[in-house]
Amino acid sequence: MIALGVNIDHIATIRQARKGIEPDPVHGAFIAEQSGADQITVHLREDRRHIQFRDVQILKEIVQTKLNLEMAPIPEMVTIAKQIMPDTVTLVPEKREEVTTEGGLAITNEVKEVMEQLKSANIEVSLFIEPDLDMIKLASKYGADAVELHTGKYAEKFQENDYEQELKNLAKGAKAIKSAGMRVVAGHGLNYKNIYPLLELDIFTEYNIGHSIIAKSVFVGLGNAVSEMKQIINKNR
Ligand code: PXP
Repeated sequence: MIALGVNIDHIATIRQARKGIEPDPVHGAFIAEQSGADQITVHLREDRRHIQFRDVQILKEIVQTKLNLEMAPIPEMVTIAKQIMPDTVTLVPEKREEVTTEGGLAITNEVKEVMEQLKSANIEVSLFIEPDLDMIKLASKYGADAVELHTGKYAEKFQENDYEQELKNLAKGAKAIKSAGMRVVAGHGLNYKNIYPLLELDIFTEYNIGHSIIAKSVFVGLGNAVSEMKQIINKNR
């Protein structure tokens, strides 16, 4: 089975538009799991623009599948991760001015140190990187459990119907991740159309998808939006 991680950040984005209490991403996590999500993914950003510390605390208590915490590789976040103890931490680059995560992580010495701290706390570590073979080698050398390939460029090119090169890059990266013995994950900008060519590669074992699912849920409800994506990624399986 291919795992679907549902990123619920944008439920919190709607709540934060009014700085109120609804909609509650915790409620969203519950519905997503009931509808087939295999993992709940949240990004606790430094500026707390959507997910709040309180959300992560409650999610840790109520999530019955897996909790994947996306975070910047900084000391403040390591402390929070050790306190929350999610199943996985996905290290992502973070810039305050960006609308969403732009580009993959550069694996520096600081990232290596953060990985060591998380791993020694028994938290599985995934790195969100571009399909760059040197970075994949470094991820393996430093002991990453998983690599999530950034599919943002592919998604952009898909819109322009000019995605073959990006797809090839992702395929090459995914093979390198698999042969290094790490879990092969994809995420960012994926939707109900551009997911199909990735599925044909038959190499990713997990997808983390947020915006397209939450966007669709406005019209069809979150449960329907999640179960439709889950069916797509597991068809013929
Ligand atoms: N994976 C990672 C590492 C991300 O940072 C994001 C965006 O927060 C996603 C997946 C989900 O991206 P999208 O909301 O475009 O589906």
